[in-house]
Amino acid sequence: MNDHLHQSGGCIWAMPGSEPGSPEMEPIQANPAPRRPRILLAASGSVAAIKFGNLCHSFSEWAEVKAVATRASLHFIDRTSLPKDVILYTDEDEWSSWNKMGDSVLHIELRRWADILVIAPLSANTLGKIAGGLCDNLLTCVVRAWDYSKPFFVAPAMNTLMWKNPFTERHIMSIDELGVSLIPPVTKRLACGDYGNGAMAEPSLIYSTVRLFFESRVQQGGSVV
Ligand SMILES: Cc1cc2nc3c(=O)[nH]c(=O)nc-3n(C[C@H](O)[C@H](O)[C@H](O)COP(=O)(O)O)c2cc1C
Repeated sequence: MNDHLHQSGGCIWAMPGSEPGSPEMEPIQANPAPRRPRILLAASGSVAAIKFGNLCHSFSEWAEVKAVATRASLHFIDRTSLPKDVILYTDEDEWSSWNKMGDSVLHIELRRWADILVIAPLSANTLGKIAGGLCDNLLTCVVRAWDYSKPFFVAPAMNTLMWKNPFTERHIMSIDELGVSLIPPVTKRLACGDYGNGAMAEPSLIYSTVRLFFESRVQQGGSVV
């Protein structure tokens, strides 16, 4: 063992030119517990955003969660349904947190913080913006700055007429090329009363899909966090 290192109770104690027990001794973790994955959960303006609180609760059991909401999604999200420790960021936060040169920029901070990005629900509008590289709000700025070697999942939700529209297929193909993983919508009676494909996958399926992906990557020796 290195003269300057002393192992005790799971810690390695580094002694900057000192003897064990001296006041300068500093602990270094030998086997630090792996930290929890950091999930950035985002909602866009589909009526399925009423389930966003539920989704945040599921992910919070397993991961550190921060949330982003578009302006339209706020019509559907009940903020009181979110876990107490989950911060919900909006476009207002993006601008109120920046005053002068040198201040941090929220979308860049969130992009750096997150290991995984999940947009559920993904609206037709935000899908189109992502496919086209547009970035005019907090969420699309995070996406525009995203590192595509990190997992990025989307769960679209829209009326079946929007889902079947030819733009959808084009946009889904574009984001697939970027490496975005699709959690497809399901067929059922939609919130508007129509029956067809376009309903967001259940939050439990979104959660298990992301978690399974993460855990299998870790098992294969890949580093996600
Ligand atoms: C009551 C209501 C429900 C809506 N539901 C959906 C929906 O399920 N999916 C969707 O893509 N757009 C839906 N829209 C339209 C979007 O909210 C609209 O396109 C909005 O601009 C999306 O903004 P965002 O992508 O920035 O969140 C709905 C609009 C209203 C008024």
